[in-house]
Amino acid sequence: MLKRFTIRQRVLLTFLATVLIGSVLQLIIAGRQLQLATLEFYQHHLETDALMIAATLNESFEHYLEGEGGGELQRLMTNFYHDNRTDYVVVDHNYRLISFTIGIGYDGTDRLPKTPELVTAETNQIGSDIRQARNGEESLFVAVPILYERRTLGYLILIRPMEPAQADVHRQWIQLGSTTLPVLFLVIGVSLWLSGTISRPVQRLRNSALKMAEGAFDTRIETHAGDANSQDEVDQLAQSFNYMAEQIENLVKAQRSFVSNAAHELRTPLMTLRLRFEALEDGTLTDLEQKRYFDEIQQEITHMSELVSSLLVLARIDDGRLVEDAVVIDTTSAIHDIVRQWRIAAKRKGLAFELNTPDSLPDLTIPVNHLRLVLDNLLGNAIKYTHEGKIRLSVSQEPGQLLIRVEDSGIGFDSVQAEQLFNRFYRTEDARSSYEGTGLGLSIVEALLKQYGGHVTAKSEGKTKGAVFELHIPYTA
Ligand SMILES: Nc1ncnc2c1ncn2[C@@H]1O[C@H](COP(=O)(O)OP(=O)(O)O)[C@@H](O)[C@H]1O
Ligand SMILES: [Mg+2]
Repeated sequence: MLKRFTIRQRVLLTFLATVLIGSVLQLIIAGRQLQLATLEFYQHHLETDALMIAATLNESFEHYLEGEGGGELQRLMTNFYHDNRTDYVVVDHNYRLISFTIGIGYDGTDRLPKTPELVTAETNQIGSDIRQARNGEESLFVAVPILYERRTLGYLILIRPMEPAQADVHRQWIQLGSTTLPVLFLVIGVSLWLSGTISRPVQRLRNSALKMAEGAFDTRIETHAGDANSQDEVDQLAQSFNYMAEQIENLVKAQRSFVSNAAHELRTPLMTLRLRFEALEDGTLTDLEQKRYFDEIQQEITHMSELVSSLLVLARIDDGRLVEDAVVIDTTSAIHDIVRQWRIAAKRKGLAFELNTPDSLPDLTIPVNHLRLVLDNLLGNAIKYTHEGKIRLSVSQEPGQLLIRVEDSGIGFDSVQAEQLFNRFYRTEDARSSYEGTGLGLSIVEALLKQYGGHVTAKSEGKTKGAVFELHIPYTA
């Protein structure tokens, strides 16, 4: 159910619920205590009155009991009470009525019933009770004994309506409530602001994600990325989003430039083909020229088909379609097998070829044809870019991985170029100007190795100083 609300509403709700429950509870506790204190005070007041009057009353009461008439008693009582809100009753120790105000809280009989306050007063204590008086008003009844020389002559009962005390309590409740209200409004304001600070960045994140989905790959969100102490989860989310956006932007850029590069690489040979065909069509060429043009056409076609097959291999690797079931291969014999043709090729070019490999090597779980594709590319490059000296292939076993080094004494490259060698279509100027190639071989090597958890590095002391390519291929013992 809560899921239908926005984060902002949820935070707001949590806040308000907490604050409301808290303040209402506190209000009730405080109010109850105030109410109790007020009522106690009211009762205490009446009790003090009763004690005081009873103390002054005892002598005239004694006189009355001795038969001297109740006039004095009546006078005393009316003196005490001009206030017509309080009624009184004086009874003797048998609860017989002696003096009282009109409208008292008892039935008009001679004798009072055993009301709770009288029962308590009989034990020489102050008795009190709250109940409806005869006029229907809720009233406080206080009874005290009237003592004379340690004898209980009778009881004085004061009756006062609870209404003024209750009005007091009422007023206090209102006061309490009215001070809580502004605080509550303040809290609502603060929670509105706070929930905003949480939901606004999330909203921004959402908008950026939508923008990116529409193709604006350069979309980024402002973050506190520089602040290492930032523990704001939403901000961390934003930073992750930015990172993702950057990766996607790079990927899209790479893909776009790949396509345009591929188109460009295909256009040049196509153009050459057209020019050669046009020249041949002319019919004005000598036989020698014709032969040269046909040779060139053949070369361009070979180049184009190489380019297209390399592109297909790369596309399959990118798609994950080139993954083959892991088969365990005998590494030593596989390497010997692959090297055979390259040994011949090197010899033909007048290069020495050296193979250093231990007699036994751990088995690899890379398919033979993929290992061949990788080594063919590296050895092919080594022989292509070397004119004198030697090619060396050395294999060694390291903990958890096989290290295969392909060294040559060829044209080499500088450190700036080294960083780009594995980029698709990249070729150094030296390579571009004098050697056939597509610039895709090393990209294929890198992408293919990655599938098997391996990687490749390129090193050179500099131009003309030879090159070293190192393959790291993991094996499981
Ligand atoms: N053994 C090497 N010695 C010097 N440069 C090399 C060597 N191997 C690769 N390169 C450089 O790396 C570039 C990319 O290699 P690669 O992807 O195999 O493309 P290609 O061989 O088709 O040019 C080459 O064009 C060349 O500039
Ligand atoms: Mg190559």
